[in-house]
Amino acid sequence: MNINNILSEKVKLAMIAAGLPEDTNPAISLSNRANFGDYQANGVMGAAKKLKTNPRELAAKVLAELNLSGIAEKVELAGPGFINIHLDSNWLAAQLNHIASDKHLGVNQATKPQNVIVDYSAPNLAKEMHVGHLRSTIIGDAVVRALEFRGEHVIRQNHMGDWGTQFGMLLAHLSDKLAANEVAETALADLENFYREAKVRFDNEDSFADRAREYVVKLQSGDAQCAKLWQQFIDISISHSEDIYNKLNVTLKRDDIMGESAYNDDLPHVIDDLMAQNIAVEDQGAKVVFINEMANKDGEPSVFIVQKSGGGYLYATTDLSACRYRSKELNADRIIIFTDARQALHFKQVEIVARKAGFLPAHVGYHHCPFGMMMGEDGKPFKTRSGGTIKLAELLDEAVSRAKALIAEKSPHYSDDTLNDLAEKVGIGAVKFADLSKNRTSDYIFNWQTMLSFEGATAPYLQYAYSRIQSIFTKANFSTADMQSISIAEPQEKALALKLLQLENVIDAVINECTPNLLCNYLYELASLYMSFYEACPILKADISPEVKQSRLALCHIIANTLKQGLDILGIDVMERM
Ligand code: ARG
Repeated sequence: MNINNILSEKVKLAMIAAGLPEDTNPAISLSNRANFGDYQANGVMGAAKKLKTNPRELAAKVLAELNLSGIAEKVELAGPGFINIHLDSNWLAAQLNHIASDKHLGVNQATKPQNVIVDYSAPNLAKEMHVGHLRSTIIGDAVVRALEFRGEHVIRQNHMGDWGTQFGMLLAHLSDKLAANEVAETALADLENFYREAKVRFDNEDSFADRAREYVVKLQSGDAQCAKLWQQFIDISISHSEDIYNKLNVTLKRDDIMGESAYNDDLPHVIDDLMAQNIAVEDQGAKVVFINEMANKDGEPSVFIVQKSGGGYLYATTDLSACRYRSKELNADRIIIFTDARQALHFKQVEIVARKAGFLPAHVGYHHCPFGMMMGEDGKPFKTRSGGTIKLAELLDEAVSRAKALIAEKSPHYSDDTLNDLAEKVGIGAVKFADLSKNRTSDYIFNWQTMLSFEGATAPYLQYAYSRIQSIFTKANFSTADMQSISIAEPQEKALALKLLQLENVIDAVINECTPNLLCNYLYELASLYMSFYEACPILKADISPEVKQSRLALCHIIANTLKQGLDILGIDVMERM
């Protein structure tokens, strides 16, 4: 269900009938003022300009050809050549009745599903996941769920940082702990700590540093014992990430992991290929690609090192290999990668080189989606009071305990179990929504008070709206089995109908631009419209006719389902009562 598309098609036909070319763009958009109708077609002005003809006269011709009978109750010419479309309430009601029992809420399923590779989360396993990985994880997961809801085929790729020279010192340190009879799980219970200890030893004990370097060589040469130790380290580290994914209600599974190490065997071939095609050249012992397309203002090309002078490979080499794997093995139509904005240059370089080398055919889309940083209240990067990085696990625990205190204050009668369950959903939901609702590319300030507020664009506000509808259903003894049809009489009902029927557009925008904040806005607007409707259009009052009551309950049913589905795409739970 896409009103935009329906209107576009009809207006386009009228434009062609009025003598405009086949590729003419009707430029349909939502009106921003009710007296301009519900939708506007603004394409005539552009077309008239091209033809050097009077736009208003042309619009009148188009209007004469336009047939929106049954869809619009009024179509009028306005201003220099706008066409204002007032939709028919009966038609809107019919569309709503149509989607009332549709599990996709009227959102069409992709007819030719694309293979979309989504690379997100990707923590570095040598360390605990920190708040910086929060954004990649939850933005990526929301886009993944939106794609799947639309019927696209998604392949998740968790490009974990599970390789690199730092593993030398980590493995040397781990082997010492095991030799002292410590259990690996205990030794690695706090990865941050473990990393710090290993680093201190590396910097201060010469013999340890030597052993660490030996471990790197051994690991790279496939030494069995070393590989086993590494695997142990990785497994425990992954399980830490999995705890966070569960807590965050994120869909990533172990099978989605395709860490950096998975590309190891292919790296020499990547270099051979680049050298054979004269794309990479030898430069001071290293292998380098000089990217002229990205030259600076003095004309010096951008330098992209693909192999270090000692023979070591880099993050860049792995990403080139990943491009090839994803397009050739996974048959990607589109690749989307979520990392913070500081990696933008890297992915630009990767794309240029991968396209040149044929690792990334022209038909495969490659979208690096950068995001801004999470800032503390002081406007500086989010840190603990002592200046350390905040662990994600601790942040989420704090969210839950804050939510618990809030709910306990509002509803002191809840049992502890109920309270804990609600606190989990509200606390985690609040952190996620606060993040997802911000424009992806800007930095944002993390603030407990605003994200946990029951007013404004927050998860608790939306969860509350949903649970209020559920309590109406309980009071009205409403069951979907005997749901009646919807009719639209009041302006608040019409506004809701228009909003509900925009879901597909919103999902498409989220998918195309990788911007879950558009869905957040949409849900907030929907909940706000519901609140105004609830004020203006009574449902449970005794003097309401049974037909009106049933129609409003059915409308509430679609609203509740849309809120629930929308929040589910954001990975946020709803509850029957709160
Ligand atoms: N592990 C990296 C980091 O924490 C992110 C990896 C993103 N994906 C990629 N294909 N490079 O910054």
